[in-house]
Amino acid sequence: MADNLHVYDKPPLGANADWTIPQNWEAFDAHEHEMWDRLFARQSEMLPGRAADAFLRGLDVLKLSKPGIPDYQELNQRLMAATGWQVVAVPGLVPDDVFFDHLANRRFPAGNFIRQPQQLDYLQEPDIFHDVFGHVPMLADPVFADYMVAYGKGGLRSLGFSALDHLARLYWYTVEFGLIQQSDGLRIYGAGIVSSYAESIFALDDDSPNRIAFDLLRVMRTRYRIDDFQQNYFVIQSLEALLKSTAGTDFAPLYHRLETMPDIAIADILEDDAMLHHGTQAYAASKA
Ligand code: PHE
Ligand code: FE
Repeated sequence: MADNLHVYDKPPLGANADWTIPQNWEAFDAHEHEMWDRLFARQSEMLPGRAADAFLRGLDVLKLSKPGIPDYQELNQRLMAATGWQVVAVPGLVPDDVFFDHLANRRFPAGNFIRQPQQLDYLQEPDIFHDVFGHVPMLADPVFADYMVAYGKGGLRSLGFSALDHLARLYWYTVEFGLIQQSDGLRIYGAGIVSSYAESIFALDDDSPNRIAFDLLRVMRTRYRIDDFQQNYFVIQSLEALLKSTAGTDFAPLYHRLETMPDIAIADILEDDAMLHHGTQAYAASKA
């Protein structure tokens, strides 16, 4: 791991045992608040008609359009009232068990720095804009809120199996890069997409990536890339359907079956896939 990434193996000095730190909102300077405003303006302008209804409702209910980096004391009052969730600040990426434990207890850990002007479009680790603008609006939706709790509890349970890669893929292809089929069209709900200007367009409009109907086992077998636009997006029918197919399923037998099933290479398509769009993969080929 590059040492400029904020990854530690125990809570750094000043952090609590659960890795949380005070947000210290007063310490953000005018440039940092301006960076939030600039990113917020750019995303919120293009998201109507692209982001899921639940996401847009969340922006509204949480009053995220208020200028500047959100003060968690204020944000958490609204979020708590909506679903019992809260945002907590952490110094960087936290260990898996700590992450799962926060989710299981309705706490979403957010990085406590905001990107620099030269990182407007790409950064290696989640900043406040990704974590708060990308993730928190969906946590104001009662069904998605329950999905994230169930995921955290499932994560804690999975530590007794060797299932982390499979569970990470589920998170990746839903929480980070999920698409949803609304009656009025395909929409984005994944935080990695909604917080990215370019991928918000690419994920919905570009011919390159596959768009495949969500299938739990399929998703848990599918590798993903962390360094560029996705080559696959998985499409859920509704948040209720996502919750039902995950929280309503005992993963232990799935983990067992997955042990003998090969991973699926990033852009491979299977006979059983329900394709919404068979991607050309032209974008990925142009970068190879
Ligand atoms: N139901 C899963 C289990 O038995 C846990 C889970 C729920 C995982 C929701 C992901 C999302 O472990
Ligand atoms: Fe994220």
